[in-house]
Formats: sequence, structure tokens, C-alpha cells
Amino acid sequence: MPFPAERPRRLRDNPSLRDLLRETRVLPEDLIYPIFIVPGKGVRRPIASLPRQSHLSPDKAAAFAEGFHRDGGRALLLFGIPDHKDELGGSGAEPDGPVQLAIREIKDRVPELLVMTDVCLCEYTSHGHCGVLEGGRVLNDPTLGLLAAQALSHAKAGADLVAPSDMMDGRVGAIREALDQNGFPHIPIMSYSVKYASAFYGPFREAAQSSPKEGDRKGYQMDPANIREAVREAELDLEEGADIIMVKPAGPYLDVVREIRLLTERPLAAYQVSGEYVMLNAAADIRAFDYKAAALESLVCIKRAGADLILTYLVPEFLSW
Ligand code: PBG
Repeated sequence: MPFPAERPRRLRDNPSLRDLLRETRVLPEDLIYPIFIVPGKGVRRPIASLPRQSHLSPDKAAAFAEGFHRDGGRALLLFGIPDHKDELGGSGAEPDGPVQLAIREIKDRVPELLVMTDVCLCEYTSHGHCGVLEGGRVLNDPTLGLLAAQALSHAKAGADLVAPSDMMDGRVGAIREALDQNGFPHIPIMSYSVKYASAFYGPFREAAQSSPKEGDRKGYQMDPANIREAVREAELDLEEGADIIMVKPAGPYLDVVREIRLLTERPLAAYQVSGEYVMLNAAADIRAFDYKAAALESLVCIKRAGADLILTYLVPEFLSW
């Protein structure tokens, strides 16, 4: 039906009709908000690399969580910044670590709020790599038990879901086994299955103090040029029992989000990472565009590509809009 019989603009002229025909909507329940937990009490310190984001001690995180939930927030993802690091990142699994304390305090104050945790070694290792380092190489299999121990400690503290972000092979299976054998078969795993070695993590590494002291993460995170490899990574995690698959970063990788959407019926998440958030802010600062409009557009596009869930630093602003 070529023009003039078919006129797509007929359906776009009227704002109410446009609204009726909108295919994709971003809702508060689609969003997960990452926060950074530091040790101590009464700490709320703005993070220089991430506008309007703060380092929070467990008590401040719980106070924040209360307001966040009141405003319609549904889920938090906790990152920990410990006061001591070692070669093996053991502080990540301590029962009184900042993340473990924050989980308890938040769940005490706001039981309905979902508390998810990032499981990784990079914030906890002295060398800043996501696994055991030996002779300049990150060893895969010796890392698995450490990740499983950290995930288990989060579950014991009351986390609703654990999210491994290290990119070691076999870690979803190892964490699943540890959870199942220790009384947590009901705790789901959201796997950072398709995680690229991306420059867009820059502001996060400053926020989490997790930059590798030497080398980079290309030996375990994926090459941005690859998409077939993304399918394989997702397939392996599905086989190992990942309940939710994640693609990260989100905005520059929407083709990958789409590809994984078509691969699985399981829920799919995408992480709009720190660099994406900072780009929105920096561009708005020089008045390249309207911040709110660009931010909302970025989220609707991620969902349109196929993500059910979006991890983003925009959540509090989104709720206020
Ligand atoms: C830890 C981890 C990183 C991010 C989430 N988990 C950093 C990295 O892999 O270097 C990045 C999040 C962001 O940039 O917002 N492995």
C-alpha cells in the first residue's frame, strides 16, 4: 500500500494517539540502581567521577534505601569498597564487610526492596584484577571458589540475588553449586554473561577503586568487535543455570542485546555503564541536548532492543521525573 493510501503520519499527528500506540515503555520496575558501599558510619561522600552518585556507609545506604523505595525504586545492586585488600580478595567474603553489613541494614529497614549484589574480586584484590593473579596471568579455576565464597556470604547476609561480573569461565556453575549446597537454592543468579573489555567503565573504576595496577582485563572480558562469541558466552551461562543474562555495556551494544534477546526466553538485563552515564551528563553540561530527554531516550532504546531490565545510575532521577 504505497503513498497516498498508506500514510504512517496519520498515526503520529495526534499526541494522544501516539501515546496509545507507543510500543515500549520504561517503568520503575524495569530498573536496578547500582550503589557503592564503603566501611564506617555516617559516610556519604560524593564520587568525583560520577555526578550525583555517592559512596555510602551501610547505615547511610539503609537510610537512602528507605527514601528510594518510597519514591518507587524496586531494586539496588551493591558494590563494595573494603578497607583492606589482599592478593586473593578475601575481604569480599567477610561476614562483616561493607556489602554484607549494608545488605542486613537495608533488608531490616526495607524488606520489600530487592537487594542484589555484584560478585567480583577486583574491588577486593590488591592488584585490582577480577581473579587470582600469578605471573601476570589471571588464573581461572582457582578463582571460582573465591567467587563462590563471596556469593555465599552475600546470600547469608540476606541478598535476594547475586550477580557475578568477573567473566571467569564456569563461575555461574560454581556459584550455583555453592548456593544449592548451603541452603540457598532459591537465590537467583544474574550473570554478567556478555561483558566487554570496555573503555566505558572508566568512571566506575575510580568510584570502586578497582583499576588493575598492571595490565588490562582483555584476558577475561570480551573483545568489543565480537558478537558470535557473545552468543556462546550466553549459551554457556544458560547451561550452567544463570537465571538472568546480562549484556554490558548497553547503549553502544544494542545489536548484542538484540542478538541475546532472540537467543533465550530467560530474562535479559543490560547495564548502562558509568561512561554512558557520564557522557549524557557531559553533553548536557555543554548544552548539546536536554538531559532529561536524552536520558529517557537512552533507556527506552535499551528496552526496545530487547532488555527486560536496565541497570543504570539514572534511577533516582528517573523516579523523580
Ligand atoms: C567489576 C565491575 C565493573 C563494572 C561493574 N562490575 C568494572 C570492570 O569490569 O572493570 C562496571 C560498571 C560501570 O562502568 O558502571 N568487575
